[in-house]
Amino acid sequence: MNELNKAQDFASSIRRKVTSTGALDELKVDPFFEEDPAATRIVEFAIKRRKNLFVVGPTGCGKSSLVINVMARLKERAEIFNCNGETSIDELIAKQWLEGGATVVKYGSLLRCYKDGKVLLLEEVDFAASDMLASMHRPMELNQQFYVCNIGPQEIIPKHQGFSVIATANTIGCGEDTFMYNGTKPLNQAFMNRFSLTVKMGYLAADKEIKVLKAKTGIQESLAETLVNCAKDVRDAADPTRVSGTPGSQSIAATISTRDLLEWADAIVGMSMTPKEAAQYAFLNRINDTDRDMITTFISNRCA
Ligand SMILES: Nc1ncnc2c1ncn2[C@@H]1O[C@H](COP(=O)(O)OP(=O)(O)OP(=O)(O)O)[C@@H](O)[C@H]1O
Ligand SMILES: [Mg+2]
Repeated sequence: MNELNKAQDFASSIRRKVTSTGALDELKVDPFFEEDPAATRIVEFAIKRRKNLFVVGPTGCGKSSLVINVMARLKERAEIFNCNGETSIDELIAKQWLEGGATVVKYGSLLRCYKDGKVLLLEEVDFAASDMLASMHRPMELNQQFYVCNIGPQEIIPKHQGFSVIATANTIGCGEDTFMYNGTKPLNQAFMNRFSLTVKMGYLAADKEIKVLKAKTGIQESLAETLVNCAKDVRDAADPTRVSGTPGSQSIAATISTRDLLEWADAIVGMSMTPKEAAQYAFLNRINDTDRDMITTFISNRCA
């Protein structure tokens, strides 16, 4: 099996393992995942010691993949829960309903993990409402050994030693400060205070990103290098600290993520397109006119 087939096989095996409720029966290590040793060290420590961990970074930089990869390597049991603006206590804690005159209670993701000793990977936590997330304050408290569930008949649920929460987000929960992550919300400081550790991730170093593109798409090295250089131009232009240091003052409000690079390379290889042509379909057609013009110029400069 060649490298590309192995990568595709990995992707489909992950898809097969995710059930409709988001519960995972088995996680698989991504053989082509390039780990940043500093971030990996913290994630491993947090998982082994069952500390609540917050992972923040730009879109497509590998936050979710890193956490899943480390959990797979450590053979952890986990649930993945994707937050959004409508995330409710029903889904996270528990919901009740009447059936044949009796009250039926069904635990949500957080209580299942709390009771059964799984890691709860809470994705895109900055989309959830702070007042709803307050329901997690007690279960996330490190020194509490039980949770009193008031949904249905009052029940005391002992905390399993294997429980912890890992949250991922594009912002640190102070609300939108770069105008790139529309819809994210400020997070309550008491909620943030329950995370023992925070990892701030960025995009991979160029040599590692080139390696990932080659391994996962089969693209040739020189072309992979060109794409990664284009991404660097765009990321620099989108970085407010490189312009004036004021949020919102960056030249563009778009980025080329590792996810974009993989799709770009895959389109080049899979459809025998030029980088300029493939870029249209991989990301340019969904970027606003001003940013698209600037990114097109960066690409033209690199792909003469
Ligand atoms: N270090 C890496 N090595 C290999 N592949 C990577 C790496 N980082 C990211 N990827 C790939 O890029 C894609 C996006 O990664 P992932 O979903 O983990 O990003 P994310 O930071 O969680 O993004 P978002 O904020 O949008 O949720 C995935 O296909 C992942 O496999
Ligand atoms: Mg993610």
